[in-house]
Amino acid sequence: MAEKSLPVTSVWLTCQQPARDQRRGRYVPETSAHPGKMLPNLAAHAISSFTAPGDLVFDPMAGSGTTLVEAMHLGRNALGIDIEPRFTALAEKNITLASAQGATGTAKVITGDATRLLDLVPASAVGQVALVLTSPPYGRGTHGLVRVNSSGVRKRGHLYGDRERGNLAYAGWFRLLDGFATILAASYELLCPGGIVVITCRPVRRRRDDLIDLPGELLNVARSTGLVPVQRCAAMLAAVRDGQIVHRASMFGLMAVRRTRAEGVPVHLIAHEDVLVLRR
Ligand SMILES: C[S@@+](CC[C@H](N)C(=O)[O-])C[C@H]1O[C@@H](n2cnc3c(N)ncnc32)[C@H](O)[C@@H]1O
Repeated sequence: MAEKSLPVTSVWLTCQQPARDQRRGRYVPETSAHPGKMLPNLAAHAISSFTAPGDLVFDPMAGSGTTLVEAMHLGRNALGIDIEPRFTALAEKNITLASAQGATGTAKVITGDATRLLDLVPASAVGQVALVLTSPPYGRGTHGLVRVNSSGVRKRGHLYGDRERGNLAYAGWFRLLDGFATILAASYELLCPGGIVVITCRPVRRRRDDLIDLPGELLNVARSTGLVPVQRCAAMLAAVRDGQIVHRASMFGLMAVRRTRAEGVPVHLIAHEDVLVLRR
């Protein structure tokens, strides 16, 4: 891995354009069916900050392939895993599109349970990964597409599909954290010396007034694998214009916040995602 100094900025302006505009033409339209996609600009910012062209980027929970596609466009190579075949099929389509658009990097995605990732990835990847960039599945309230029609506001695409085979989206908090610890410990083996892990996540509201500090929990999990925290940043989910935050919340999100506030709970719209940066 080429040595790069860590950027000093702690707030990443990753949503100056709406997410759909970031993906339009760069991802196949079916990508909207994935319930919890990473912002392309967030992935691109992490990849260009922490790797150099030719480096290998790994995402053990690759979903629709955002990490892989953005790595390819930046001339990096990428390897991903997802447990759901329909998502790896989607990621493959996005990889094919990126190649067709002239991306100079290459990418491969594997279907399987990343808690056993060392059995899935080629042995040649061990010790070669410059950046692990990933986001665990959590909180259906944070995901999904909203459509308004004559019968009201409807949410779709906010559920993961495969309940039976180790999908951590359905695991409950303790099993999610245990599974994520196993995945990170195995990912550690893939990292080159000094390699970086970037985890994006946000706090999750479980009941009306119960906010789970998922970023704090994931940081503890990551430290327990031997990774050393080097930065904690905020990736914007809102735009910043003339020093003011311009929210990009869906109508569903706005309505949920208004309803909860009307019930006396002082919740706010979420405007950023936590970015945990750790080093091997
Ligand atoms: C938050 S999503 C990642 C989205 C991705 N960054 C993107 O932009 O599309 C988390 C992904 O983890 C996958 N997943 C859940 N449990 C898994 C496991 N045990 N092994 C591999 N993937 C898993 C889910 O299928 C889901 O696609």
